[in-house]
Parts: sequence; structure tokens; C-alpha cells
Amino acid sequence: MAKKEKFYVTTPIYYVNDVPHIGHAYTTVAADVLARYYRIMIGADNVYFLTGTDEHGAKIAQAAEKQNKSPKAFTDEAAAKFQLAWDSLSISYDDFIRTTEKRHKEIVVDFWNKLKDAKTPKGNPVVYEDEYEGLYCIGCESFKTEDDLVDGKCPDHNKEPELVKEKNYFLRLQDYEKKLKELIETGELNILPEGKKNEILGLIKTGLKDVAISRQKVKWGIPVPFDKEQTTYVWIDALSNYISALGGLKSKLYKKFWPADVHLMAKDILKFHAVIWPCMLLALDLPLPKLVFAHGFFTIDGQKMSKTIGNVIAPDELVSKYGTDATRYLLLSQFGFGTDGDFAKERLDDIYNAALANEFGNLVSRTVSMTEKYFSGQVPKYNVEYDKFFQFDLQTDWNRYDFFMANLKFDEALNVIWENIRRCNAYIDKEKPWELNNTDKDVLADVMYNLLETIRQTAIMILPFMPQTCEEIMKILGYKPEKELNKKISELRQWSSLPLDQKINSGEALFPRFND
Ligand code: MSP
Repeated sequence: MAKKEKFYVTTPIYYVNDVPHIGHAYTTVAADVLARYYRIMIGADNVYFLTGTDEHGAKIAQAAEKQNKSPKAFTDEAAAKFQLAWDSLSISYDDFIRTTEKRHKEIVVDFWNKLKDAKTPKGNPVVYEDEYEGLYCIGCESFKTEDDLVDGKCPDHNKEPELVKEKNYFLRLQDYEKKLKELIETGELNILPEGKKNEILGLIKTGLKDVAISRQKVKWGIPVPFDKEQTTYVWIDALSNYISALGGLKSKLYKKFWPADVHLMAKDILKFHAVIWPCMLLALDLPLPKLVFAHGFFTIDGQKMSKTIGNVIAPDELVSKYGTDATRYLLLSQFGFGTDGDFAKERLDDIYNAALANEFGNLVSRTVSMTEKYFSGQVPKYNVEYDKFFQFDLQTDWNRYDFFMANLKFDEALNVIWENIRRCNAYIDKEKPWELNNTDKDVLADVMYNLLETIRQTAIMILPFMPQTCEEIMKILGYKPEKELNKKISELRQWSSLPLDQKINSGEALFPRFND
């Protein structure tokens, strides 16, 4: 993969009628991992990470009314809850966009005016007015066909859609079928995983239907600038966030960061991002995102996460029990990124104890305590060039890790890290430093150096996933993390950059064990 010069990653902007839960957290942590990874790789100035909240539409207006609140008061409170949740998970977003902000509304209005004058590749007006009658699911904020329904109900929201009849503005998607198909097939617009790309291509093959992009009955929305009777369809409003947050088409940020490198989301909203958004961008004559990535949906202990079932897990629940970094790890390590999976709550203690307390935490604590015991807490001077006898090949690990990170295979990148941790633990058991201490101090110095240096590199590898843990380990190894972690990636990955004689500090256990 060619070296990136800049990296722009987005999450969906979440609906504020819901409180933040670990479904939202899953995507947001994944996006944060990417942002942190690219910040080390290409420099923080070249990375932009956007998240935010989707605050208009019938669904939000109804939720506010239910709580007897004005939509403004309701959305202010709700957006703050998302920000607090992201703080507790160390989400390092560069911007948090709210669709009720003036800066966003201005861009949506700008897009309307541009779309109104635009022509499709076939020479038709992009936007036209038509009478529409259809079944509308408020939960999805979209029209449904009979084929989408199961027993007359929307399968995602288990509710009968309402019959809506009104005059709307339409976006002429059908004229973009050919172009969109071509762009996806050539990979200019990449959609991953592959299976999802094929689903979208299949959908285009059956023919794209024009989409209504305004609403008459929904008052809580951005007014269409040339028709005061109508507001903007919430999905058109929401998708525009990816550009409005950059400050619109003339801004410096737009020029530097657009097109997005990755729009991240779950499969539930792929269609909007892989069909409607690209067509809208084509109509506006703007570059398309490079990659739209739809990860899987997870269930909780085998069941859909839902308020009715009462199994919704708030990020705070996990953070207060396991801590921020462990929660991030638990979220991303459970199943392949891109496939559906189950989040088994009763297994979390075991995973935490096994992977974090026993394998990772223990490796660090026993290495540190042996360094204290055998070398008065100083990095020992090694005697042999490491590649002459050290069987670890960290360079291969870095290559595999980079490959997995570039392809959003987070669980596999974590596996590389854990293979390394396990190898170190096995190395200790094999070399038995406690015996070497009596038999061969030179070899002991080599063994301890190898362990300390591998732990240092492991800390760099784990930084995107567990930023606080990385800093803790850096402190333990005697560094000032803010200074050390500012170094170039090539220096950070350089074997034997851990200075000889540096003083090690034993700290608290990284991951105290849970005893049930
Ligand atoms: N507001 C729209 C998105 C507009 S983006 C221009 C929306 N919001 S949402 O609050 O419903 O968020 C949906 C997203 O939340 C999913 O695409 C996914 O990123 C995340 N998830 C919600 N529940 C999830 C699971 N159970 N599993 C995995 N991801 C989950 O749609």
C-alpha cells in the first residue's frame, strides 16, 4: 500500500434519541484506533478524525416531545452524553459535529443550491419535484418497499411503517447507476468487506430508485432554501456532515483532507454511504470517499441489543469495571472486524484475566521485578548482537501488524501483539533468569535486555488500541512518554533503542486481576 500523506476517518454521526451504548462505542473506538495509528505513522497534523451527532428528523422530534423538552434542549443534553462517553473511552476526535450547528446548516443550504442547478450525466436536472406515496419507517428514517418488510413490519424496528403521501424533491439516482457501478468496480470507490461490495453492486444491478430528499411534514429539519414548505431529508442532512465539519468546499481543511480515506460504520447504514452519498457527491461534482467500510453487527449474549430486551450496555458500565483501555481491548478483540459476532458479557472477566492480567500485565511486572532484583532496576548492557541468538523477529511482526492495520483487521493486529507477549512469557520460562542469575550473568543480561526492549516495542504496537497502557509502560521503562512518543516511527521501531542503564520504575499492576 502506498504511503498515505493524509488520513481522514469518520464515524457515523449517532442519533441522539438513543443514549450512547457499546454498539456506538465499537465503531468509535475502531475509528480512534485508526486515527491514533496514522498519527504515529504520518504525523498528527496529517490526520483528521471526525465524529458527532445526528440531531434532526421526526424520530428526534418525537423523542424530545416524549420528554417534554424542546428539541434544542433535548439535543444539547443528548449530544453532551455522547461527548462524555467518548471522553471516558479516550476517543481522540479532532472534531465533533452536531447537525443543529450553524456551520453545518450553512453547508447543507449550499449543497441544495448547487444541486438545484446541477444536471445528471444524461442531461436531466439532478433534483425534481414529485408526488410521493410510500411506507415510511421512522426508526430507519427511510421509505420501505413491501419486500423490505417482514409480516408488514420493519424487521429492524419491529414496527409497521406509516403510509406517507406528500410532494417532495427527489434526487435522480437512476442516472448515476452506470457511473457508480464503474467507480465501485474499478475500486476508485472501495467498499469493504468484499461481500458487502458485492451486495451493493447487486443492488445497483437491480436498478436504483430516485430518493426523496425533502419532507413536508417534518418540521424539525433544515429548511430547503428555495421552498419554505419543505425541510431536508435527515439522511441528506446527516451525510453532509462529512464535508460541513471540514468547513465546506472552500476551507483549508476541506482542501487538505477531502476525500475521506475511510467512512466507518456498521452494515445497517452501508446503503446510504455506498449509494446515496456517492451519487450526491457525483451530482455536486466532488471527489468520492476512498473507502466505505461496513463492519458487522454484534449481539449481546446471543440477543439483539435493545431497550425492550433491556440488555443495552452503556460504555460507562464497562469502563467503570475494567478501565478505559481494557474496555477498548474487550470491544475490539472479540470477533473479526467486518463480521457479525456476539459480545458475551459473562466471558469478559475471563478474557480480561487471561489476556490482560495474566499474559500482558504479568509479563511486564515480572520483567520489571527481575530487572530490579538482578540489575538494581537498570537496563542491563547486552553482550551479543541480538539477531545472533534472539529468535524473535519483530520486523516481521511490524510488517504483519501494518498490513492488518491498513486493512482494518484490528483483531488480527491484536493477535500479532499477543503472539509476541506469549513468546516473551515462554522465553522467560525457557531461559529461567532465576537460574541464570547463579550461572551466567552475561546471558542473563542479554535475556533481560531482549525482554525489556520487546516490551518497549510492544507498547508502541499497542498504543492505538490502549493509549494509556502504552504511556504507563513508557513510564515504567524510564521514559517521559510525551517526549518519547513524539519521536519518528522509524526511531520508535528501531531495535535496541532502549538506552543502557536507563532506570526502570516499577508501578502499579497494569491490569489487576478480578477474582470472582
Ligand atoms: N444517524 C445515523 C447515521 C448517519 S451517518 C451520516 C445512524 N445513527 S445510529 O445512532 O443508529 O448509529 C448506527 C451505527 O451505530 C451503526 O452503523 C454502527 O456504527 C453503530 N452500532 C449500533 N449498534 C451496533 C451493534 N449492535 N453492532 C455494531 N455496531 C453498532 O444510523
